[in-house]
Amino acid sequence: MRRQDGAATTSPPWYPAPKGGTAKSWEEAYRKAAELVGGLSLVEKALTPIGTGWAMGPCVGNTGPVPGKFPSLCLQDGPLGVRFADLITAFPAGITAGSTWNRDLIRRRGAAMAAEQKAKGVNVLLGPSMGALGKFPAGGRNWEGFGSDPYLQGVASYEAITGIQSQGVIATAKHWVANEQEHFRQGVDAISSNIDDRTMHEIYMWPFADSVKAEVGSVMCSYNKVNNSAACQNAYLQNGLLKDELGFQGFIMSDWGAQMSGVASVLAGMDMTMPGDGIDWDQRNSLLGPELTKAVLNSSVPMDRLDDMVTRIVATWYKLGQDSGYPEPNFSSWSKDDTGFIYWGSGEAPIGVINQHIDVRADHASLAREIAAEGTVLLKNDRNTLPLQQPMKIGVYGEDAILIDGNPNLCPDRGCNRGTLMMGWGSGTVDINDPKEPLAEIRAKAATYGGVVEAVTDNNDIAAISSSAKKQDVCIVFINAAAGEGYLSWENVYGDRPNLDAQKNGDNVVIAVANNCDNTIVVVHSVGPVVMEKWVTKRQVRSILWANLPGQESGSSLVDILWGDVNPSGKLPYTIGRSLEDYGPGAQILYESNNGNRPQQDFEDGLFIDYRYFDREKIQPRYEFGFGLSYTTFSYSPITITKLRPFTSHPSPRPPPESTPPEYNSTIPPVDSTHPPGSFTPINRLIYPYLPAGSSITPGPYPYPDGYTTPPPLSPAGGAQGGNPSLWDPLLRVSFTLTNTGPVAGAEVAQLYVVPPTDSGVVMPVRQLRGFEKVFLQPGESRVVEMELTRREVSFWDIEGQSWRVPVPGVGVTVGESSRKGHGRGFVYLDRE
Ligand code: BGC
Repeated sequence: MRRQDGAATTSPPWYPAPKGGTAKSWEEAYRKAAELVGGLSLVEKALTPIGTGWAMGPCVGNTGPVPGKFPSLCLQDGPLGVRFADLITAFPAGITAGSTWNRDLIRRRGAAMAAEQKAKGVNVLLGPSMGALGKFPAGGRNWEGFGSDPYLQGVASYEAITGIQSQGVIATAKHWVANEQEHFRQGVDAISSNIDDRTMHEIYMWPFADSVKAEVGSVMCSYNKVNNSAACQNAYLQNGLLKDELGFQGFIMSDWGAQMSGVASVLAGMDMTMPGDGIDWDQRNSLLGPELTKAVLNSSVPMDRLDDMVTRIVATWYKLGQDSGYPEPNFSSWSKDDTGFIYWGSGEAPIGVINQHIDVRADHASLAREIAAEGTVLLKNDRNTLPLQQPMKIGVYGEDAILIDGNPNLCPDRGCNRGTLMMGWGSGTVDINDPKEPLAEIRAKAATYGGVVEAVTDNNDIAAISSSAKKQDVCIVFINAAAGEGYLSWENVYGDRPNLDAQKNGDNVVIAVANNCDNTIVVVHSVGPVVMEKWVTKRQVRSILWANLPGQESGSSLVDILWGDVNPSGKLPYTIGRSLEDYGPGAQILYESNNGNRPQQDFEDGLFIDYRYFDREKIQPRYEFGFGLSYTTFSYSPITITKLRPFTSHPSPRPPPESTPPEYNSTIPPVDSTHPPGSFTPINRLIYPYLPAGSSITPGPYPYPDGYTTPPPLSPAGGAQGGNPSLWDPLLRVSFTLTNTGPVAGAEVAQLYVVPPTDSGVVMPVRQLRGFEKVFLQPGESRVVEMELTRREVSFWDIEGQSWRVPVPGVGVTVGESSRKGHGRGFVYLDRE
């Protein structure tokens, strides 16, 4: 494997944890938090960063309440709707939202999802997901995020977070970081993602920088190790990259059971443990709980670290305005009954109302439908087969066209593939209250003009499919590929897919239909790329619609596209290759351990994932990243590039902090202040921070980790939320004219790729997405489109200088309709410094 320069894969020590409260826009929230936290005793402080234990509250995560002072926070999945709740909307998955390339729609999706969470009483929404980013096309959880490109993930995460937090709900950027595969996903033997500094910055960390720029309230540290140090106890990742370099002001929570140590994780920057149990699931051996109290008393966790943990959480709550009358949870993740155990996992009283069954859907179904339609990508459309012109005889084929038992994948957390695929499986799913079946919606549409639909949905009855297909004017065949989170499996799909094939005999169904029907339209519902080589070039396969994972509005959104009520405008958020091997050796999941119980995944492909690999290796994909057709056509004028500022290579020096973190009295209180309150009746199996009477603890000395007393130099790339503010300065403006040259109105996603100079001496991808704009145009209409490029977007990560730098002598830019179809092109030289 060729590696780019700077391949050191280490996580050097970075201590102590930077304190929150350095950003002006958080000043007021931190001031209020300081007042509240300053009035708490040690055990009151210790309640907030600890989860109460699995199923010990209504939500998937619940923090300990500080009676009369600070509420229990409800943390709930997830990235496409309210998990485990009724009367909610099942939104299209992240990958579908990413396929829209529509900033406004992604923001509105975030706001609508958050409105539902808030109305159910959720304080912290466990999304968006931006890692898995998509290094592995077969990765089980790629579909929860927005696509296999850091820039696209970054823009979409920014918009999603802005939308979510506009409702006063705390968003969670997850999973930090390099959580790319599900095999070996969890526990002490979890996989190590071994990544060099430059790849970390330019690929995996990139969307988290956008998230911090969007002022995200929380970040979830992931299950995997990075450079052989567990992500939640990796000081370099949490203290160094996230809190120092990116200037993150909120709190870091562990993924569920991802915390692998007590003191070490806390010193390394983790601020909250979830769901509160220790290393073993649903066992109450908390690594914090009373251990956190002990650790503060014996000084292994300095008092000011606990203060910072609590302050970060409380400040985030104030920042989102949750102090002014926030709803309490009114649903239970554990039962749909009206009444039941309040602390479900305790298995005993108190009993009370646990589900109020509040309908939070508002008119979100129409938004979900709009997103699902816009997230559908038209990959092939020979003879303008689509949109349909009222065909009278329509054949519908494939199990993926129907609901089985009235609901897709009716298995726990949707961990199977039965009937039509609306989402993948795992924690990022919801119960689907109102699923729109593709077949039913097609029938209803056809009936409006007297069309007749015949369906064969048994994928193994090839004879019936073939004989039916012969009789039709048009045939619509449905195939799919499912995957999900690795705690569930279906057949041979253990979270990650074993291959990129259509599942459930899909290829044979398509071939049987195409062999008998001259107007075959293939609809694919999938978690990621599917290899279509067995039939994609068949003459009779006239059209292919890549419908991603549409959520509940599957059938309705599809009908909108099929009959042309909506002109397709989605673009692929990843490359569809001609084989799994075409993605390169770095894109292969590690299915078998290569190192006993310490599996190692070396990210030797570095920057060269997805299209960056295809481009470098000159491999022809089947459909390239960014590709998607329309029912109309567009033309691009040449581009003009204008400098908006001196075009220099280096960012400005890191500015000083805008604000000073709160200071508290850091005296360690006496042990007897940590005993349970006098009137205390413990709830069975709930985690508390109290120490029993009679405990004796001796403070220190404690051998803090290397570097604790001599903090490392601050990153020159830091200084504000999202990094050094000058990285976000627009340097260049690229403009061009886009014209709708076809017969119908439609939207084009114009994409801007930065192209490196040939002689910079730095290894760089052939092109990298660094801008896009979705423009809706009437037939014949033209519009001037302008895109601005920030310093960050034209820089690479310079490992020597430990900062971003524009390559010498400058950068090239191309604009076009996909990663491989550029129209305008230009080059800008750097100014003398
Ligand atoms: C997942 C997270 C999720 C959490 C809580 C974990 O298994 O990795 O994405 O938010 O569970 O359900």
